[in-house]
Amino acid sequence: MDNKRGQWGSNFGFLMAAVGSAVGLGNIWGFPYKMGKTGGFAFLLIYLALVLLVGIIVMLGELALGRKTGKGVMGTYLEFSKKYSWLGYMSVISGFLILSFYSVLGGMVLRYAVGYFLQLIGLDGFAGQGTGFFGYLLYDYKGILLFYALFMIITVLIVMGGIEKGIERFSSIAMPALFCILVFVIIYVAIQPGAIDGYKFMFMPDLSVFSDPQIGFFGVFKAAAGQMFFSLSLGMGCMMTYGSYLSKNEHLQRNSIIIPFADSIVAVMAGMAVMPACAAFGVEYNRGPGLLFASMQTVFDNMGGFGTVVGFLFYFLVLIAAITSSISILEVCTAFQIDKDMAKGKEPNRKKVSLIYAAIIFVFGLPVALDALGSGNALIKAPYELLGFEYKGPGFAMWNDCWLDLYDLIAEGILMPIGALVMSVLIGWVWKTTIIKDECEKSGDKFKAYKYYDFCFKFVVPVIMAFIFYAQLVDFFG
Ligand code: PHE
Repeated sequence: MDNKRGQWGSNFGFLMAAVGSAVGLGNIWGFPYKMGKTGGFAFLLIYLALVLLVGIIVMLGELALGRKTGKGVMGTYLEFSKKYSWLGYMSVISGFLILSFYSVLGGMVLRYAVGYFLQLIGLDGFAGQGTGFFGYLLYDYKGILLFYALFMIITVLIVMGGIEKGIERFSSIAMPALFCILVFVIIYVAIQPGAIDGYKFMFMPDLSVFSDPQIGFFGVFKAAAGQMFFSLSLGMGCMMTYGSYLSKNEHLQRNSIIIPFADSIVAVMAGMAVMPACAAFGVEYNRGPGLLFASMQTVFDNMGGFGTVVGFLFYFLVLIAAITSSISILEVCTAFQIDKDMAKGKEPNRKKVSLIYAAIIFVFGLPVALDALGSGNALIKAPYELLGFEYKGPGFAMWNDCWLDLYDLIAEGILMPIGALVMSVLIGWVWKTTIIKDECEKSGDKFKAYKYYDFCFKFVVPVIMAFIFYAQLVDFFG
């Protein structure tokens, strides 16, 4: 492998970075709130089944292809044929869309962490608004822009540092810290009276949501599938890019199981922090972005004096999770350009490339930062007004009136499933699964359960993916 691209220093470092990419707002905010909306236990069940049948398979596919070619997502597809360049572009565009809304949310998390920090040292961190701060922040455009920019700057500084000295070093400290804080928050929440209802909601076998006409099996399935892709950072070349920095000695198959396993554990743990906390203080679970901000702030406020400490720790934890994910998304774009420059024989300039991409993505994210998350009367008009769709009403689909949801729908709902679907079909039918097996066996380990993987690449993943994609289309076009 060319050292100009960089390489992970150790398998532990790689795992921390990859698990860091996977564990993010998707786990701590998305998972509990989607679970809250779609029936708790039923969602958990389908989610875990999808991780086993699809997540682990696609994860291995991405890691193996990336390591085989030693290139990012575009470089990897081009290595096979020029005609696949559209797959590379799709992935980079997903990265643009996701990072732009992700960083706006990350900025808000940073704002809350700073707010609680100020409270800790005896100042008013929430502009005199108390638990009403979320409604205030949405329209405080200067504040949002400032924290959005700060979050993006933190992201780019780490990526500029490179693979081993930037991303790996940060993740190797941040991820264990995140885990410890999460355990502490879970324990503290568990001793609050009334917390038990939250666990019941998560773990009591209850499948009644399947007969709910509004949601049904289909609704739960769709929510769980989108969540799985997003949460495992799959379908947009992120794991391919991270795989390209892995040494041939590492055990790919084992890594491809550890990452989804760790991600799912953290998602369930995040649920065990958020849901019982909401249950204990009578706050609704299913409040969208508000869950992470307005609801949790209400929870910490009601915990009494120690609530400020727990609140600070909680937002600090979410901030770490968000940063280790945002750097992986920016890395997809950075590697895209670095590979392109190197193919032309140019000396790659990581610092310059990541800075330029971050700046462009920042501009992309401005509508998300300035539309008050679709709450109306904002600085920037809603997508349906600006792009001239027919307004289908707020109950129909949020992408009508919220830029974040529109970006998310295009990336998580369309581009990522297509990316994963096409990749599995290519692996299963065109290139054949032996390329994955051969790459995995380069470390000297025997590839286990080849028949299972072969079957999943060929049939299970494509069928499930096509189904998800169909469901998204139905949603999109009504
Ligand atoms: N997996 C991250 C999360 O759960 C988000 C992400 C998506 C990161 C795609 C990288 C690529 O928050």
